[in-house]
Amino acid sequence: MNKRIQHFLRLDDLTAKELRELLERALRLKQGVEGADRPLAGRSLGMIFRKSSTRTRVSFEVGIFQLGGHGLFLSDQQLQLGRGESLADTSRVLSTYLDAIVIRTFRQGEVEEFARHASIPVINGLTDFLHPCQLLADLLTLREEFGRDLSGLTVAWIGDGNNVANSWLTAARVLGFELRIATPTGYGPDPKLQARAEKEGAVSVTTDPIEAVAGAHVVTTDTWVSMGQEGEAEARARDFAPFQVTRELMSRARSEAIFLHCLPAYRGKEVEAEVIDGPQSRVLVEAENRLHAQKALLLHLIG
Ligand code: CP
Ligand code: NVA
Repeated sequence: MNKRIQHFLRLDDLTAKELRELLERALRLKQGVEGADRPLAGRSLGMIFRKSSTRTRVSFEVGIFQLGGHGLFLSDQQLQLGRGESLADTSRVLSTYLDAIVIRTFRQGEVEEFARHASIPVINGLTDFLHPCQLLADLLTLREEFGRDLSGLTVAWIGDGNNVANSWLTAARVLGFELRIATPTGYGPDPKLQARAEKEGAVSVTTDPIEAVAGAHVVTTDTWVSMGQEGEAEARARDFAPFQVTRELMSRARSEAIFLHCLPAYRGKEVEAEVIDGPQSRVLVEAENRLHAQKALLLHLIG
């Protein structure tokens, strides 16, 4: 891999300092005090998606356009990749046309392999393992809500120890806030990420949602059935039922606590409609922040 290329395959590909600067830049972009001079004019961003997407795809495409550049949506079924061309050749070739590339796929190893052969920055647009772009938007939402220093916050993650939960583990370790994860037995986050975050940060994992949300500033969850797990939907609905974010559960958090969800959400499953559509919910701001945070990421990587 070319050492001078900075990829964004996991949240800690950015240092704490870079992450904080990126959030401040995202705020300036959101406020319109930066970015109007088309700083990425003439640049092209490719986007390979092997899974569905509403937010990630549209926010990257619109984001690069607003910065003066051009986005190309590349479904893997329309690329030769879908007919067996290697990731390595695809990566080497696309590197000669594009300035950066977003990939959404299943295995984290695929984005890593793509990055090894790329001579342009590769951005992880979600894998089964991680969703670092989501965390940029979530952290921006916390920055707006609670101010510049996030280290005094307590975040409660309720539900599946999935790709988004794994990325929260890294965020808590890098920025030093408290993270409490409550999952059913057998659905915990990645053990290695958990062990490191527990050692270096204020992270705890429990099977008790009430314990996790007690006094929290932020309560967050995600679907019980991530993309690729559709066959497990029935078992998961049963196992996760006690982990729904209800008004009752929210009442155990701070009175000023906010509710986050990366979306897409399933009302009546992981969250009660009254919570996600209620006054404590910030999910639409969070979704909008995908755009601003990723514009800041693009400027950081190729600006
Ligand atoms: N939160 C998120 O990544 O949404 P999409 O799957 O719609 O991109
Ligand atoms: N955990 C979910 C997130 C969707 C944005 C999934 O991987 O499907």
